[in-house]
Amino acid sequence: MFSKARISVAAAALVAMTGVGFAASHSQGEFAREIKARQAQMTLYAFNLGILGAMAKGEAEYDAEAAALAANNLAAAKSIWMPTAWPAGSDNASVEGTRALPAIWAADSDIGAKSQAMGEAVAALQAAAGTDLEALRGAIGPVGASCGACHKSFRAEE
Ligand code: HEC
Repeated sequence: MFSKARISVAAAALVAMTGVGFAASHSQGEFAREIKARQAQMTLYAFNLGILGAMAKGEAEYDAEAAALAANNLAAAKSIWMPTAWPAGSDNASVEGTRALPAIWAADSDIGAKSQAMGEAVAALQAAAGTDLEALRGAIGPVGASCGACHKSFRAEE
């Protein structure tokens, strides 16, 4: 059984460790942690979409279970909602290490709608991916298009 004292010691240690990590990563540039976190979410998108894309293109054998898993992971990654990873002032005109365009934070930005469109396409893909190859092929295009639409408006070229 845990004693209260032990729990608070552990909690204090955790806070101290987090504090160190915070200071260290911030020395690498303003908003470095936030930028890394949002890019990590994008990396999860690309990884799981890549698995499905390979099957859709016939580069990998269709596997219903693996396809369903990748689509579920894509949906799970999409469900991560972290506006704190997109603070104003963390655009590519203001800080290093990001391709996020200032337009994201503009008053007329429709990034929310673009994000929602991706969510809808991913939900359809999640329903289809584990059914059969034809269903996967039909549902993956709109997901790729939804990624591309947001990148076109809000991500700088490399
Ligand atoms: C609502 C807008 C939006 C949607 C939808 C979106 N992205 Fe992105 N993506 C961005 C922005 C903005 C960046 C640049 C982030 C940065 O560099 O800070 C980015 C960056 C990336 C990166 C580069 C990450 C890195 O390490 O620099 C990859 C890969 C990526 N997106 C893949 C995807 C895939 C795959 C999808 C769809 C499944 C997707 N994105 C959907 C806006 C979006």
